[in-house]
Amino acid sequence: MSKRFHNFLQASKDQVDRQLADIAANQATVAVGMGEALDPIIQAYRYVLTNGGKRVRPTLVYAAARAVGHNGQGTGLDHVACALEMIHTYSLIHDDLPAMDDDDVRRGRPSCHKAFDEATAILTGDALQAQAFELLANAAGFRPIQRVTLIKSLAKAAGLQGMVGGQAMDIKATNTDLSLQQLQSMHAYKTGAIIRAALTMGGIAADASAEQLSALGAYGGHIGLAFQVVDDILDVEGDTQTLGKTQGKDSEANKPTYVSLMGLSGAKKESQRLLQAAIGALGEFANTADPLREMAHYIVSRDC
Ligand code: IPE
Ligand code: IPE
Ligand code: MG
Ligand code: MG
Ligand code: MG
Repeated sequence: MSKRFHNFLQASKDQVDRQLADIAANQATVAVGMGEALDPIIQAYRYVLTNGGKRVRPTLVYAAARAVGHNGQGTGLDHVACALEMIHTYSLIHDDLPAMDDDDVRRGRPSCHKAFDEATAILTGDALQAQAFELLANAAGFRPIQRVTLIKSLAKAAGLQGMVGGQAMDIKATNTDLSLQQLQSMHAYKTGAIIRAALTMGGIAADASAEQLSALGAYGGHIGLAFQVVDDILDVEGDTQTLGKTQGKDSEANKPTYVSLMGLSGAKKESQRLLQAAIGALGEFANTADPLREMAHYIVSRDC
């Protein structure tokens, strides 16, 4: 990892961490006069928005904007980045619920429903999702058409034709075998869609041309799928401490994964193939896309 990229990664994470901490702190003000019933949700908001996470999706927003010549700064772009991370955070809270993956640990701490209770976890996820769209609706500096396109992009990636659809496939696939094509489709929906949206939304926010958006989307499709292939590998090879979530849950729950279908070395080869495809999709960009190129390597070689 180059020093320059290391600094970019850290600066993006710091920027998002700061904004999300502010958003969490503001909830107390928003809820003034609504009574004590909201207290657990306000506490849970702070708990889930300030407990780390790699912030990969918002970092991809900044990197995509830079790829098309934007300086990667500004409150509008920050709001796009935070909206993506809020949808992702909500998806993790619900993914961990007993009715879904039943995971007690997330980002090195008790999952939201363990630290609070199930109703609070469900409602916190719901509120995060709604607020992500509110953030886009209020974001500074976008033309009306640009704003609507951003909102539509996130809605599609988060909903039935995206993450929620993929999560439904995941639940149905538990204790069954999937073909490679079915597995690829499930991963592309449950994880790839939001990651791909981070790329295209970063591009839209930075006024990318149609050709640039198409290249960002292609990169996002490959690296979004690679992200979940690596998540499957880490579930086998990682350790609970480093991962911040319980290792070995996929095989325990008998989930079909890239490792169960292809073996560890097959899954690793596939992640390398997807890495090369993602880099290849950036062909038309000059060195403004170097942060995206380094992100692709980081996503495939990470250990958590
Ligand atoms: C985990 O996502 C869930 C998947 C979509 C595979 P991350 O690995 O990005 O989790 P955090 O945000 O860093 O905790
Ligand atoms: C999660 O996939 C995808 C989401 C939409 C949250 P996983 O269930 O594999 O994610 P982890 O391993 O719990 O983080
Ligand atoms: Mg899951
Ligand atoms: Mg899970
Ligand atoms: Mg996983």
